[in-house]
Amino acid sequence: MRLILEVWRQASPQAQGHFEPYEIADAREEMSLLELLDRLNHQLIEANQDPVAFESDCREGICGTCGIDVNGTPHGPEDNVPACGQHVRSFHDGDTVRIEPFRAAGFTIIRDLIVDRTGLDRIIQAGGTVAVDAGTAMDADSVLVTHEQSEQALDFAACIGCGACVSACPNGAAYLFTGAKLKHLSLMPHGRMERGKRAVSMVAQMEHEFGPCSQIGECALACPAGVPLSAIATVNAERLRAMLRHRDN
Ligand code: FES
Repeated sequence: MRLILEVWRQASPQAQGHFEPYEIADAREEMSLLELLDRLNHQLIEANQDPVAFESDCREGICGTCGIDVNGTPHGPEDNVPACGQHVRSFHDGDTVRIEPFRAAGFTIIRDLIVDRTGLDRIIQAGGTVAVDAGTAMDADSVLVTHEQSEQALDFAACIGCGACVSACPNGAAYLFTGAKLKHLSLMPHGRMERGKRAVSMVAQMEHEFGPCSQIGECALACPAGVPLSAIATVNAERLRAMLRHRDN
């Protein structure tokens, strides 16, 4: 299959970026988008040109490292699938595929397709530590978490922190990300002592780093982990709860 890739090239945060067209003559349907970029980089290296800088790690949808916009959609055309799980079979012979970095005011472009997503890390950091009583191991049936509760917590813990929600949001908001973390921790007995303090601190950091939420819902559509849209309501619910209680927990 022949594909034309229009790839964003930018040498540094200060440099002017532009789209550069490249032809891949031998793309195969079973290739992932990252393998397509690998193929392009082999071509570029053989031609003594700079390879395209992009991030990836697990390449199986669990680490959140691969973050690119494909034809204007975070990660690519398949819903709720990270870039490493998107495949060339979504395109047709002769198609032009535009690949660019995640676009958001909170994500500075470092080089080519790599953006600085440390703003998300600082939200987690603002949440502080979680107190865990590390005494004698408890019997499994003495942990007071219902099956429904643990299943719900896992739905929100599935967030891989890739930043697709921020890129999909017209405001560059990080509500889905922050709400997923707050909701998952609020459902578990661990860290209950710091629940209020954590909510106030993480929401303040989020507002400092990213834009406001307009409840458009693009974030949940783009999320490769399928984090429910209700996570965005958690942000204000958790902050309000903490303010009304005037307590840390
Ligand atoms: S490389 Fe880990 S989620 Fe894509």
